[in-house]
Amino acid sequence: MDTITPRLDDVANAREAGDRKLDWARDHMPIAAALREQFELEQPLAGERVGMAMHVEAKTGVLVELVAAGGAEVAIAGCNPLSTQDDVSAALDAQDGITSYARHDVDDEEYYGAMDAVARFEPTITVDDGCDLVTLLHDEYPDIATTVVGGCEETTTGVHRLRAMAADGALNYPVFAVNDTPMKRLFDNVHGTGESVLANVAMTTNLTIAGKTVVVGGYGHCGRGVARKADGMDAHVVVTEVDPRKALEAHMDGHEVLPMREAAAEGDLFVTTTGNRDVIVGEHFDAMADGAVLCNAGHFDVEVDVDELEARAASSREVRPGVEEFEMPDGRRLHLLAEGRLVNLAGPLSMGHPVEVMDQSFGVQALCVRELVESELEPGVHDVPDVVDRELARVKLEAEGIEHDALTDRQEEYLGSWQHGT
Ligand code: NAI
Repeated sequence: MDTITPRLDDVANAREAGDRKLDWARDHMPIAAALREQFELEQPLAGERVGMAMHVEAKTGVLVELVAAGGAEVAIAGCNPLSTQDDVSAALDAQDGITSYARHDVDDEEYYGAMDAVARFEPTITVDDGCDLVTLLHDEYPDIATTVVGGCEETTTGVHRLRAMAADGALNYPVFAVNDTPMKRLFDNVHGTGESVLANVAMTTNLTIAGKTVVVGGYGHCGRGVARKADGMDAHVVVTEVDPRKALEAHMDGHEVLPMREAAAEGDLFVTTTGNRDVIVGEHFDAMADGAVLCNAGHFDVEVDVDELEARAASSREVRPGVEEFEMPDGRRLHLLAEGRLVNLAGPLSMGHPVEVMDQSFGVQALCVRELVESELEPGVHDVPDVVDRELARVKLEAEGIEHDALTDRQEEYLGSWQHGT
């Protein structure tokens, strides 16, 4: 697949291009800048080896630099074969204390080989996006998994997997559910996914959102963001859900709610955001109109049944970079973006979430990495301490120049008392 990211054929040029991307990201990440000053001074991660499996692009690069600035040695691999930007990977790899094994569009052997290299680096701390590094350590390197101090998990699907491991008694070290904390989930999943998914669909297809019927599969944090932004861009939004409360919420938010078997015939653009498999399958492809565009924003490429789409199609061809056209036997053409992988990260024009949003998410990550070193936690999945979450909000508001009210003593006393009545 063509990409805006240069391949590594010319390493010097790639590093320079990666450095420019890192500069731009750093300039728009005030939380990372403030933490970097602290980390450089205090060296809270001195002696730690931080192993990461993340989408290797510029904002992640700033997190990697921040962790290294805190005194850690860092090794990183990708967490999706298509989301790595080779220039950023090269620029990181050139820095002291950082090794990046991530490469764009590699085969399975090279992709898992990179993650394996991070495992063999014997991390004392893991930072994952999707839980692949944690599971690799537990499955293949159990001796190392017992020496890990702790980990952090970036995304909803990763937290689901960790909770399942913990329920099975299979998780041997503590992991912070970074995804679940308000400063991450209410901004990254909602606004970050909403904006970056629709921006990528628009850029990849060069088609309008306005006037279209956009079917959003799942009305969780990501789906709510996509639906809200699509509505703001003058689309008609249809939501599909399996949770009755979420379906009701979508209805009360003004969206049409339908089962996917009915929505399939209505949609011009389909976006899956469920973290679940088989959301759009064979019977849905059969009902779709000529020209329908399909994409996925969930972590794994299991939401749109791409194998079934291939099996039902008479032929397929790439009609634009990142757009695969499947012609069905009856002549209808269905267009799949980014191979059904997360469209805002794995397409040829994808750059992931907006920088400012990731500043928050990665601010949480950096503080949680420090927290793991400074506290002794039991194995299992842990909430991000509220004090960390609030402090990040304060830093962000200060950076944005936004003032807000504080509780007076009288108000605080009132809220903390049960003796006040009418
Ligand atoms: P969430 O748990 O808040 O929402 C998921 C929603 O999907 C729930 O309301 C659930 O009821 C619904 N759902 C489950 N199965 C369904 C089905 N078959 N049909 C319709 N609805 C169904 O999760 P969140 O935070 O919105 O994350 C969703 C996915 O997106 C996860 O895989 C997560 O890892 C990923 N993610 C992707 C990002 C990106 O940049 N593309 C950013 C953040 C998360």
